[in-house]
Amino acid sequence: MLDKNKLEKFNQQHIYEYEKLMSTNEKQALEEKIETLDLEDIQKMYNNLYVNRQTIDDTSDVSEVKYSVKSHMDNKTINTYKEQGIEAIRNGQFAVVLMAGGQGTRLGYSGPKGSFEIEGVSLFELQARQLIDLKEQSGHTIDWYIMTSDINHEATKDYFAQHNYFKYDPEKIHFFKQDNIVALSEAGQLVLNETGHIMETPNGNGGIFKSLKKAGYLDKMKQDNVKYVFLNNIDNVLVKVLDPMFAGFTVANNKDITSKTIQPKHGESVGRLVNKDSKDTVLEYSELDPNIANQFENANIGIHAFKLGFIMSAVDRELPYHIAIKNLKQLDEDFGVIEQPTLKFELFYFDIFRYGTSFITLQVPREEEFSPLKNKEGKDSVETATADLKRMNMI
Ligand code: UD1
Repeated sequence: MLDKNKLEKFNQQHIYEYEKLMSTNEKQALEEKIETLDLEDIQKMYNNLYVNRQTIDDTSDVSEVKYSVKSHMDNKTINTYKEQGIEAIRNGQFAVVLMAGGQGTRLGYSGPKGSFEIEGVSLFELQARQLIDLKEQSGHTIDWYIMTSDINHEATKDYFAQHNYFKYDPEKIHFFKQDNIVALSEAGQLVLNETGHIMETPNGNGGIFKSLKKAGYLDKMKQDNVKYVFLNNIDNVLVKVLDPMFAGFTVANNKDITSKTIQPKHGESVGRLVNKDSKDTVLEYSELDPNIANQFENANIGIHAFKLGFIMSAVDRELPYHIAIKNLKQLDEDFGVIEQPTLKFELFYFDIFRYGTSFITLQVPREEEFSPLKNKEGKDSVETATADLKRMNMI
């Protein structure tokens, strides 16, 4: 039985009304789900992140990160890093983790974003090819950990199987799922998805560390003597997956977190890597006053290497949720399907930086390393990604 008083106390009384329209099985599923939710916590999260939401407009305590610029380095330095990187890869010091649990909503593509093909080559394949190349250069097959979510886990695994794992060793590819969290209406109420279940959405890419741990993969990495975890996004078509120069730069400096950045464009929708209270952190574009964003020189492109020891020491600590408002399909009070603005809660992976103590950043040329596929048309679109891949002879 649903507890009507409790539902009312936390502004979820509508669930009681919804239940009246449900079959016995649906009621049971609903009640079981509600049992697992901490309604008080959900209400607090709604109040903190939505009712009292703030954009970051005071950055008086924020400064530029310390960073090296690759184009200012001489060839000898770059080659030394490359050699160090290949050596570390050969010795199995790196694991590669890909964040691929997000939705390609802005791209208008319903499959896993990594399965999006440009002239017959998928984003997954573009990355797999580079890992194969690293194997050829180093003699070592790197373990590739791929984070998916409920919305694309099976489709992602099927896509890899159908494409024969892009000729990578299937034993070295490890899929793991991130968690979900409930979505809310703008009034702070739980929402029913099209199938009549409480709507949940992937909990953001910051779920990555706990999900790696839960799957047993942090322990596996430790047993495998991995020292550094390289992390990247799925949608940067020019991403250099664990490029040896960056690997060498990571090993040579041996910091908790090594980041790769580019120079941002004015008004660009990218997070800005900055220093706050002696820690590097990312101020996310969606939460940042554009005038402030434009003051900083390093754009986050989702490319980092973490010390495994650092991840293991920080993985159980709390990360804050952030909020995004997306148009999502759901049931209205008459159980008709509607689409309306809905609050999604997301963890951001870079919030783990606050638990780190040492940081270093390498700024690289945008034209060689960053071309994100975000939109159907216009900026960061299929057209721009295709042109960049051709320019770099990658397709
Ligand atoms: C992200 C960065 C932003 C950066 C930009 C560069 C975050 C929070 N923000 O923004 O600072 O400037 O990339 O392109 O990372 N993902 C999951 N699970 C989720 C949500 C996302 O695995 O629940 C993955 C996506 O598949 C993608 C990556 O995380 O690989 C980034 O997510 P996305 O939604 O594309 O972030 P952006 O808003 O583009």
